[in-house]
Amino acid sequence: MRKNIAAGNWKMNLNLDQSVELAHQVSKEQIPNDVEVILGVPYPFLYSCSLHTNQNNKVHLAAQNCNEHEKGAFTGEVSLDQLISVGVDYIIIGHSERRTIYGESDELLAQKIKTVLSKGLKVIFCCGEPLNIREGNKQEDFVANQLKNGLFNISAENLKSVIIAYEPIWAIGTGKTASPQQAQDMHAFIRNAVKNQYGEAASKEVSILYGGSVKPANAKDLFSNADVDGGLVGGASLKVESFVPIINSF
Ligand code: PGA
Repeated sequence: MRKNIAAGNWKMNLNLDQSVELAHQVSKEQIPNDVEVILGVPYPFLYSCSLHTNQNNKVHLAAQNCNEHEKGAFTGEVSLDQLISVGVDYIIIGHSERRTIYGESDELLAQKIKTVLSKGLKVIFCCGEPLNIREGNKQEDFVANQLKNGLFNISAENLKSVIIAYEPIWAIGTGKTASPQQAQDMHAFIRNAVKNQYGEAASKEVSILYGGSVKPANAKDLFSNADVDGGLVGGASLKVESFVPIINSF
């Protein structure tokens, strides 16, 4: 169901004490009725954070990645059953850092999505173009391909368990934000692509988040656009003082 969502992606930041404290502080908040909060916590701290997020039914836990296999000899990897056992509800799939630094292909992401959905978990699917593509005004083709090859081989029923996050790479961690109009244009394009693939009802139901230097100062302007249903927030999600105002920006 389409919802307003404030999702934090802590990436490879914070230690155990800091993570637990932040999860505790966020979970203590009175989250507005129409908003859902998701915390993308590093693997080692998921369980400890779940003890706090469990206390607030509007706060959910995400892992930042997962392995596509069921289990077995995959040293250093983490399976979905393991993530389920520590209280995870969502998996972030296809973050640009996974795609570019770790070379995750659309095919691999599609496989991960299939496994996540088969386990009854939910997906936050990330897409977004690098700077040279934006400068060449080819961002729509680029994102359309990411959607087609990474996401669109699932069923309409399974799409109900997916949130899409549009994160232009040139805006991630750079302090440069897409303008509200740039965000709205791409979100409308993505929603239309969902409509073409799955029909009008599905396109109206899917939540599409914007990511890339979301801050308390720009969250309201971004979230007030018709097709922007919230944010996937990196840097500003690491402190309760910057993340809570974002949660309250709808
Ligand atoms: P940022 O990161 O908010 O620090 O730009 C966003 C993300 O990568 O999800």
